[in-house]
Amino acid sequence: MPKTAPPQTYRVKSFGCQMNVYDGERMGELLAEQGIAPALEGDEADLVVLNTCHIREKAAEKVYSDIGRLKRKDGSAPLIAVAGCVAQAEGDEIMARAPSVRMVVGPQAYHRLPDMLAEAVEGKRVTDTDMPAETKFDALPARRKSGPTAFLTVQEGCDKFCTYCVVPYTRGAEVSRGFNDLLNEANRLIEAGAKEITLLGQNVNAWAGEDAKGRVIGLDGLIAQLAKLPDLKRIRYTTSHPNDMSDALIAAHGAVDKLMPFLHLPVQAGSDRVLKAMNRSHTVDSYLAILERVRAARPDIALSGDFIVGFPGETDEDFEETLKLIDAVGYAQAFSFKFSARPGTPAASMNGQLPVEVMDERLQRLQAALNRDQIAFNESSLGKDCNVLIERKGRHPGQWLGKSPWLQSVHFESDAQIGDIVPVTLTEAGPNSLHAVPHMTQA
Ligand code: 5AD
Ligand code: SF4
Repeated sequence: MPKTAPPQTYRVKSFGCQMNVYDGERMGELLAEQGIAPALEGDEADLVVLNTCHIREKAAEKVYSDIGRLKRKDGSAPLIAVAGCVAQAEGDEIMARAPSVRMVVGPQAYHRLPDMLAEAVEGKRVTDTDMPAETKFDALPARRKSGPTAFLTVQEGCDKFCTYCVVPYTRGAEVSRGFNDLLNEANRLIEAGAKEITLLGQNVNAWAGEDAKGRVIGLDGLIAQLAKLPDLKRIRYTTSHPNDMSDALIAAHGAVDKLMPFLHLPVQAGSDRVLKAMNRSHTVDSYLAILERVRAARPDIALSGDFIVGFPGETDEDFEETLKLIDAVGYAQAFSFKFSARPGTPAASMNGQLPVEVMDERLQRLQAALNRDQIAFNESSLGKDCNVLIERKGRHPGQWLGKSPWLQSVHFESDAQIGDIVPVTLTEAGPNSLHAVPHMTQA
């Protein structure tokens, strides 16, 4: 490949989960530290990082079509880096199929992006999908910018090996970041303006570490310590596995005011037979028992989950059990997906793969049930007083958009500003957002 001029501007496009959003921000910070500026909205960037997701269907195909579309107006191509989980899983194929890609970098290696870039401008094509023992976090620049809400990756990877899931292969084994490292990053984010931090991990509630005094702590301990930081007002965490829902973490939902009353606890299916085939290692009853205890600790908790329909061998009866579970829980919101056979996972080669029409029909019914419950949850919030953290401007002049403690989008008119926490009364409920009236502020 010919040499290229070093890029002056970059754009990172992140797909998929919140951890990818976090990684994308950190790659941006790393490039900015090299003197490369973020491309302005609408401008063509010299360097484009596609931060990809591999969790479901057609992700790789999408990468190829995105690469094709990156041509610039003058016909030239920008420097292209493919990052994220597709890079990890299919790096060699990408290099073979897409000659315009200069760099392929996995989720555990992106701290090496500046070195890779130096080689790429010399005309080389570089792949780094190592999962090095030293952590990328030590090599990344300190956080300097933050909005009122920020993500903080505290744990990565997964050892659970659910039979449908690529995460254990693309993100590697479960690793917790060290307590001091996290406290430092949290402090930087707060200094930069964060009022709310969402702790991220593929199995965030499996986080374990040692606090400043050398005591072994779990996620509840980390939350308790972060809650002591006076300028941090809200803490959330996602996403969790039922088996790591410790008594102490459940208790924290009742004991730590700053921990928001929201829990995303995926169950995936409502039939024990399917759960077993998924290697989930919990049952419907054990899952419901956890939710009961969480509700006892925090009665107003809003619950969320993930569902997969059409897992191989899922019968009509199995699916009905999933609907029954949904009825029993009353989720405030949830995500649902059609099963997608991911190459290399055990479920991809199981007997009983279902036709797409069956999956479509089940997904529709499932989503109708979830929508019904989401509306019911929003309507049950009417008349409640709560605080809203303003994240951005709303659609209308003078309108603000923020989140309730229960993670609902709330809009209201006020002379407050971004980052303010405003006491309001919730007055109108729609399926996806609520309207509110701020309380009179005292002079
Ligand atoms: N097919 C469909 N959905 C999947 N998920 C993970 N792997 C698959 C797959 N192969 C869903 C699960 C998980 C969420 C992040 O994505 O519901 O909780
Ligand atoms: Fe995937 Fe299961 Fe691990 Fe979640 S717990 S990341 S679904 S293997």
